[in-house]
Amino acid sequence: MTASTESLFALSERYYLPVYRPRRIVLDHGKGARVWDRDGREYVDFGAGIAVNALGHAHPALIAALTEQAGKLWHTSNVFVSEPPLRLAETLVQASGFAERVFFCNSGAEANEAAIKLARKWATAQGRAPERRAILSFRGSFHGRTLAAVTATAQPKYHEGFEPLPPGFRYSDFNDLAAAEAAMAGGDVCAVLVEPVQGEGGVTPATQEFLQGLRALCDRHDALLILDEIQCGMGRTGRLFACHGYEVVPDVVTLAKALGSGFPIGAMLVGARAGESMQFGAHGTTFGGNPLAAAVAGAALRELSSPALLANVERQSAALRAALSALDAEFSLFSDIRGRGLMLGAELRPEHAGKAGEILDRCIDHGLLLLQAGPDVLRFVPALNIADADLAEGLARLRTALAGFLGR
Ligand SMILES: Cc1ncc(COP(=O)(O)O)c(C=O)c1O
Repeated sequence: MTASTESLFALSERYYLPVYRPRRIVLDHGKGARVWDRDGREYVDFGAGIAVNALGHAHPALIAALTEQAGKLWHTSNVFVSEPPLRLAETLVQASGFAERVFFCNSGAEANEAAIKLARKWATAQGRAPERRAILSFRGSFHGRTLAAVTATAQPKYHEGFEPLPPGFRYSDFNDLAAAEAAMAGGDVCAVLVEPVQGEGGVTPATQEFLQGLRALCDRHDALLILDEIQCGMGRTGRLFACHGYEVVPDVVTLAKALGSGFPIGAMLVGARAGESMQFGAHGTTFGGNPLAAAVAGAALRELSSPALLANVERQSAALRAALSALDAEFSLFSDIRGRGLMLGAELRPEHAGKAGEILDRCIDHGLLLLQAGPDVLRFVPALNIADADLAEGLARLRTALAGFLGR
């Protein structure tokens, strides 16, 4: 006998720590940009598991890599090496154009945690401890939930109740170079941590001037520039690395989400300046970069680097933007449509502020999975290989949901 959707919900309410408020459907299987719930309803997926399933669901190359590796070797620990993570590291270094070394972990927060530790270790190795410990990050950012990563996340709502937070973090306004300059003037900043496109905070791209200016400030104050590309990296902006589109050379880049395209893996890529600062015993993880995760990520990376896929991102980005503008022309709903590539945000006009969650519920009723970025922004992060028909169908369903929201 198969369990009912309601009974599965009862289980989630009974057994899960109630830190999530999942929507009341139970997803069962997926193919490409579509997913089905266990009642057989089909959805167009514009959320991709929070910008993770960059190649859609059940991609044949990922299934092949996973199943082949599953029959060979899953895990070795980092006491031993195996080929899949070595090849993945080599490919990432070569594709990045800046990195010399890679540390693998299991999630975005872990990658940022590693980067924060690396920055402090680097400063220490230069004989600049204890006076140079501060990590500068930006309001509206999101860097993960471990204690250091959440402290770097410059949004008070994520901090409340977890005090005392670790010291040595400073915040400044995003896209305000003068404010960053002032925040670094004391000479105690060892690293600047920034998302080239803020994701959770509202889908806000850094300006070129801001990111390039941060690079110059880091050079002037001898600090590391750490780019958190966990959400915006791996093809999402139309370039494999978001920093390539900004023409900025970072010291460190953190990756996760689309790197495994659904299989958990994170990575910290480190350039020449700080590549030797973490030595034997300085950091580690049991699972990070296990052969199974690395085999899937290797296959994902091959797909994500393909010129055809990156061209699809640009093309569908233009189509999605145009469609959102058309919806705005019809419904007068959005005050801003912004983002890069297939990471777009539509901010609700003040009269609809706080209603993103309600719109998402209506989208589900009409067969569309969508995300928000805070209470006021609809977030579009579909699979990067999304086909014209899926995009068009998702947009048609969005239109119906928006019309219903407005009572039309
Ligand atoms: C930019 C950014 N950094 C870090 C994280 C944290 O990643 P994870 O949830 O894998 O720890 C996220 C997750 O949403 C993110 O968007």
